[in-house]
Amino acid sequence: MTPLSLSLLLLSLPTLTLSLTPSPGCGNQPKLVTSSSTTTPLTLTVNSKARNFFVALPQNYNASHPYRFIFTLHALGGNAGQVVAGTGGYVPYYGLPPLINDTTGAIYVAPNGLNNGWQNQGGEDVAFLRDVIRTVEADLCVDQDLRFSTGFSYGAAMSYSLACSLGKALRAVAVLSGNPQISGCATGGGGGAEPVAYYGQHGTSDTVLPVSGGREMRDRFLKNNGCGTATKEAPEPAKGSNGKVKTVYQGCAADKPVVWVAFDGPHTPTPKENGASATWAPDETWEFFSRFK
Ligand SMILES: *[C@@H]1O[C@H](CO)[C@@H](O)[C@H](O)[C@H]1NC(C)=O
Ligand SMILES: *[C@@H]1O[C@H](CO)[C@@H](O)[C@H](O)[C@H]1NC(C)=O
Repeated sequence: MTPLSLSLLLLSLPTLTLSLTPSPGCGNQPKLVTSSSTTTPLTLTVNSKARNFFVALPQNYNASHPYRFIFTLHALGGNAGQVVAGTGGYVPYYGLPPLINDTTGAIYVAPNGLNNGWQNQGGEDVAFLRDVIRTVEADLCVDQDLRFSTGFSYGAAMSYSLACSLGKALRAVAVLSGNPQISGCATGGGGGAEPVAYYGQHGTSDTVLPVSGGREMRDRFLKNNGCGTATKEAPEPAKGSNGKVKTVYQGCAADKPVVWVAFDGPHTPTPKENGASATWAPDETWEFFSRFK
């Protein structure tokens, strides 16, 4: 190795090391977010439109601790209040809070889309959610290397859209029965080509947003994440099995895994396996998100 290539290698090393990146709000007592920010939403004006979002402070919030930031996006016809309360077919914050109790907790952010959806016209929802990140992180202590987004249906499409537009500003997404077209990809910045760790789940008998769209979104991130193309095909469960088949793709770039769960079932945020009373979806999402530290 020549000295020149050695020094280039050394220069490039620090960017490979992901480290804690505390947000501007670290070390300060919050001025904006309070414990009532789960009942009275915070507001922003973006592109002359009034927007709002709920924020859940962790219990015993510690302003010196950089927390995970997790967007929990509602579906078409739903709203953020339902995601917060766990009504209208949702479990609160997609079922994550009881699982994320490993000394740190997380900051959950549930924003409202326009017209109860995430059409993201001209990238306006990406612009709104970028502003939400800035606003929350100016007030609260977030680890900027640990931002996530999840959602069901339109909320899944918007999580995918965020991955396309924000790229490495998001550590991982969990896309539950979404679609690549309805919120778009790379509308509002980004080229849709950056790697983002990707978890997708989809019902193989989904008649609202067919599983083909789920596969298409997954395949974009298989490509972005350098997972290779030979392994795209993933087994899917037999009709009537009420089961799920999980594929953990091999060969993806370090820290950019892709996981795909196909389940025998319809369009739902809370799929269950044969005979089970509880959904497995939160466990799969948290198993995926929890590997990023
Ligand atoms: C607050 O968080 C910091 C950083 O993680 C930690 O060192 C400190 O012990 C925490 N304080 C309390 C009271 O838990
Ligand atoms: C954390 O979650 C696990 C699994 O749900 C549960 O068994 C445990 O009691 C919880 N711990 C706390 C401190 O809430």
